Amino acid sequence: MSADARLVVVSNRVAVPKARGAAGAQGGLAGALNAALKERSGVWFGWSGEEAEEHTGEISTQTTDGVTTATIDLSKRDVDEYYNGYANSTLWPLFHYRLDLAEYERETAKGYERVNERFAETLHPLLEDDDVLWVHDYHLIPLGERLRSRGVQNRIGFFLHIPWPATRLFVSLPYHERLVRTMLHYDLLGFQTHEWLDSFLHYCRTELGAEIDEETGAITLDGRTTIARAYPIGIDWDHFSKLGEDEAAQRAQQRLLNSTRRRTAMIGVDRLDYSKGLPERLDGISRFFDQHPDRVSDLVFIQIAPPSREDVESYQKIRAELEQKAGQINGARSEVDLVPVRYVNRGYSHAELFGFFRAAKIGLVTPLRDGMNLVAKEYLAAQDPEDPGVLILSRFAGAAAQMEDALLVNPHSPDDLAHAIGKALDMPLEERRRRYESLIGTVRDDNVQDWTENFLRDLDSAGQL
Ligand code: G6P
Repeated sequence: MSADARLVVVSNRVAVPKARGAAGAQGGLAGALNAALKERSGVWFGWSGEEAEEHTGEISTQTTDGVTTATIDLSKRDVDEYYNGYANSTLWPLFHYRLDLAEYERETAKGYERVNERFAETLHPLLEDDDVLWVHDYHLIPLGERLRSRGVQNRIGFFLHIPWPATRLFVSLPYHERLVRTMLHYDLLGFQTHEWLDSFLHYCRTELGAEIDEETGAITLDGRTTIARAYPIGIDWDHFSKLGEDEAAQRAQQRLLNSTRRRTAMIGVDRLDYSKGLPERLDGISRFFDQHPDRVSDLVFIQIAPPSREDVESYQKIRAELEQKAGQINGARSEVDLVPVRYVNRGYSHAELFGFFRAAKIGLVTPLRDGMNLVAKEYLAAQDPEDPGVLILSRFAGAAAQMEDALLVNPHSPDDLAHAIGKALDMPLEERRRRYESLIGTVRDDNVQDWTENFLRDLDSAGQL
């Protein structure tokens, strides 16, 4: 790859709708890629997020700050089968260990393949010989192989932002072998953690009989070699950590402090998704109140949860469940001048979230399964080093591998959560500072710029390993 080779990023979503302003709601992907593309005269290709009557193949391009976005519309059928269907009703639940929610339908599987072929067909003519391609996430797993079948010989890397499930689970997917074989057409495969990487390698070894070199991550099958490695994603530290100087952040912090008065604020910020463990989180809070009724008046829990994937039934169900649970806790515990749970279905800007995080003395990040989780890192980045809050983190978030000094919990256990809340509330300043100091290094140093550089450097040398 020559130093000025163009970077072409491909992902399902290019422009994140304005309503999804929450950091967690952007899922890291948008923020991370914008930072990467700003540094190169990159092209970002993907779905416009719009539904068209029919697929026309028309591309809309726009260049801002040296970054060109090229998007296509999808037909309603494509959106139903590819996005709502196979990506979000099959792969997403399965990869998050929710076999009970995973749907296996031939039609949506075909729709997924059709849209990947459509992406390849539209993208191919835009490519130049030197371009380096970086494909993102579970919506586009077969894209590299589709491009190769059209003769594309450029370097192509793929990064999976979500977990890779254990082999035992993954083999429940019909045609699992076909899907993984397409992945071996990439030059480099990136995973968020060693755990997900190991699951993938285990599958390749045991189900495909591939040869694995543990040292380099080289997977060899049928004479082709692909490198697979872990690249834990980080936040845009330079941008995020400076938000404290922003007036909007200061106003948001003050707004929260004024409204909570002397009560301690705990905060959660998540896309409204069943993988985030939101009902379980409310159960943990409820358990804490049951065990410590005297402390109800000391606490307020703020859950920001912008709705997501609203056309998918499992998302409609989780939303209804949360409304009921939040209502139940508040009904049982409120006073005329006190409501213990504030449940908010909207997104906020990064600056506002920074202010809220800083005002909250406890950050609750308790997914049942998560590729990484950048909210955990943003919560820490927003803390006052002199008087930092406490991060309660699920051991099943990818971030837990880097954050042993958070209060790690099993999000399925209300007792474990209740215990951690009590511990966080009573934690002496000295211990809070010690934990913060030990955690902030990885948040600052393993940032999104490093992540991008590491991945692209390895992609550049993947053929020589
Ligand atoms: C996760 C995925 C991303 C996705 C984001 C938001 O973080 O890894 O690929 O963009 O969620 O979900 P949505 O379906 O709204 O794009």
